[in-house]
Amino acid sequence: MSPTPGQTGTDVAAPAARGARQGSGGAEALLKVTGLEVRYGDLIGVADVSFEVPVGRVVALLGSNGAGKTTTLNAIAGIVPTSNGSVLFEGKPVHGLPAHAIVRRGLALSPEGWRLFVQQTVESNLLLGATPVVDKRKIPHLLERVYATFPRLAERRLQRAGTMSGGERQMLAVGRALMSEPRLLLLDEPSLGLAPAVIETMYETFQRLHKEGLTILLAEQSVDLALEFADHAYVLQVGRTVLSGSARELADNAEVQRIYLGVS
Ligand SMILES: Nc1ncnc2c1ncn2[C@@H]1O[C@H](COP(=O)(O)OP(=O)(O)OP(=O)(O)O)[C@@H](O)[C@H]1O
Ligand SMILES: [Mg+2]
Repeated sequence: MSPTPGQTGTDVAAPAARGARQGSGGAEALLKVTGLEVRYGDLIGVADVSFEVPVGRVVALLGSNGAGKTTTLNAIAGIVPTSNGSVLFEGKPVHGLPAHAIVRRGLALSPEGWRLFVQQTVESNLLLGATPVVDKRKIPHLLERVYATFPRLAERRLQRAGTMSGGERQMLAVGRALMSEPRLLLLDEPSLGLAPAVIETMYETFQRLHKEGLTILLAEQSVDLALEFADHAYVLQVGRTVLSGSARELADNAEVQRIYLGVS
């Protein structure tokens, strides 16, 4: 199914054909995932996922329901074990490390469905995100920075997380990830279930964080949204990376959208 270079006149190609270098544009890879396989018992979560995230860029993982986006992000963050393949962060392997050790390296996940402590306050949830921070004197400053990024959280710092709106919970999940001072932020479906105006504000915030130097790996079902924000994207299909290209190339490629993303 994958177009071979030169056949289509576009630069969209199967990662295997072009090599992982394609995503980097010469920049150093902050994250490099090769041949990732994750099993849930006898079931395969992802079979063969390879991609890289260059430092300072935004990379999107696209794919329809069950393609393996969440499994991939969870495996990178150490929440689910990998059964094969490698995950290198700043050139060093992190696969096999526990989640707390991975976040300490500088990689934080805002998970699908937020996974908040709903009985605890906004501020307690944020402070939990700072658990890996070694120099605890930094924490008040980190907290203030998150509140500056999401003023709504500052207004509601004593509110229980379980009583927050969907948009506010999404802010909290991202804010909690930011509390660990990540160099790479993993965002899993940050637009899911949110109203268009909230999504727009959320993405403006991501854009600002990115401009401040944060590297971002984003999983999104909303293809248009992801390709508007990302520099580069990889398409997953039944647990495999089947295509990659610059966001513009993938956005312009109707065939890609039709075949892999179910867009008519
Ligand atoms: N805990 C689990 N136990 C068994 N199978 C699972 C588990 N979590 C995910 N899977 C399976 O792994 C595959 C990949 O699922 P995953 O949630 O990673 O996809 P996704 O791309 O994030 O989908 P969505 O867009 O719906 O969030 C699917 O076939 C799914 O059924
Ligand atoms: Mg998912």
